[in-house]
Amino acid sequence: MADDNEVLSDFDERLLQGVFARVWRYLGDSADSSSLVTKARSHQELKNKLELAVGRTGIDVDTMLSDIDDYLNESVKTSHPHFMNPLWGGTDVASLAGEFITALANTSMYTFELAPMATLIENEMVDTMLKLVGYKAGEGIFTTGGSNGNLLGLLCARDRKFPDAQRVGLVGKQLVAFISEDAHYSTSMAANVIGIGLDNLITIPTDESGTMITAELQEAIGAEKRAGNFPFCVIGTAGTTVTGAVDPMNELADICHQEKLWLHIDAAWGGATLLSPKTRSLLHGIDLADSICWDPHKMMGVQLCCSVFLVKNSGTLRKVCVHTEKAHYLLLGDAEDNDLGHMSLQCGRRVDALKLWLAWRAKGNEGWASQIERYFSLADYLVTKVKEHSRLELVVEPSMTNVCIRYIGYRLNESQQDSITAEIRKQLISSGRFMVSHSQINGRPILRAVIANPRVDEKVIDDLIDSIVEIGVSLSPK
Ligand SMILES: Cc1ncc(COP(=O)(O)O)c(C=O)c1O
Repeated sequence: MADDNEVLSDFDERLLQGVFARVWRYLGDSADSSSLVTKARSHQELKNKLELAVGRTGIDVDTMLSDIDDYLNESVKTSHPHFMNPLWGGTDVASLAGEFITALANTSMYTFELAPMATLIENEMVDTMLKLVGYKAGEGIFTTGGSNGNLLGLLCARDRKFPDAQRVGLVGKQLVAFISEDAHYSTSMAANVIGIGLDNLITIPTDESGTMITAELQEAIGAEKRAGNFPFCVIGTAGTTVTGAVDPMNELADICHQEKLWLHIDAAWGGATLLSPKTRSLLHGIDLADSICWDPHKMMGVQLCCSVFLVKNSGTLRKVCVHTEKAHYLLLGDAEDNDLGHMSLQCGRRVDALKLWLAWRAKGNEGWASQIERYFSLADYLVTKVKEHSRLELVVEPSMTNVCIRYIGYRLNESQQDSITAEIRKQLISSGRFMVSHSQINGRPILRAVIANPRVDEKVIDDLIDSIVEIGVSLSPK
């Protein structure tokens, strides 16, 4: 076996030692709730502070470690207990280990020959998730995220409606698909990419809980048919981005069955609820969908990026991700049945399955179940605290662990409530105390706190409430 000293230069060895020493320090610093979650510097301030240009000659290792320190110091602490902003957070150390090992072994997922164990691991993870969904003869592939999963769903749907379209294009046939008004914006990008046009993604209204109104869907499908257009797909959401609403999947499946439409479910956020016997009923009917995307990098907390696209009938992906014969130098070997490159829109593809597999091996099914249940119970705790507080309003009863809050204060009119709610978020972030996101519900600003970070606990939630109210009171007319 080669001695490390022969393999690595002094620069490389000191760099790696320096990097690994920083892993412990960074994780430790991020756990400290008295530290800032973000420095919230402006773009200009940060640009002025840093020296980012690359030079004619290389730098020494100490300068490089100092660059890395700058990077870590300026990063948002996404594992900080007060990080509750997007639909993910925290550091899952087993999946972090998977990220290191993926980068260390540095391969690409297109062929079994180049990624032997990685291919088997990806197969195993896909099979495990297919079973959880209830697909008996399905298949799947890891993608870069729910956005690309939604794109693949729409592409599969187009292929079922007009299989020739992949060869000859849409040739004047106006395809139309349907989403709810609360669907993720990636569905619009997908409509753009597959060439149906943004205007042909028909938006269906939602009820007060944020779920698609199926009677409106039925009417819209009829109207499009009467106009001579070709409905081909409904995209439902299992866990919408802002309120966590779950579209009624059984009803959507009935409509799609009757109208011969593809049903794609965007479960990027809500898919994780399948992992606990206590929450999986939220996704009742998901097995009726034709395809699903599910992001382990959201509620499961696997390091970014980790996302899976699942389809009910195997054989679909190979047909949809057609490569023609041009990939003869890569994909047409003896082992082609095992080559996942046939089932992906990517050529080079990271080994994202490894980190999910390591995280799953570390936790087991029971570990996932308790993680998801803990998040739901913390969301309940936050909901109760908000409801109990006379200056706060729970804007929607959550189905998932995103909690939408408005500051209503004391004797404030709607416009004051709105401006104070928006300002509270700005101050939480500019002070580096908390990161929660903002959004609008019915045209009015809200604060959205998401429980998807293992470092959030009851004390953090109490502190969040206190901080929101303290800022709200300070901004209110005296
Ligand atoms: C419901 C939903 N679908 C899809 C996406 C996009 O996922 P990704 O960021 O993995 O592309 C998001 C992102 O937040 C989401 O909330």
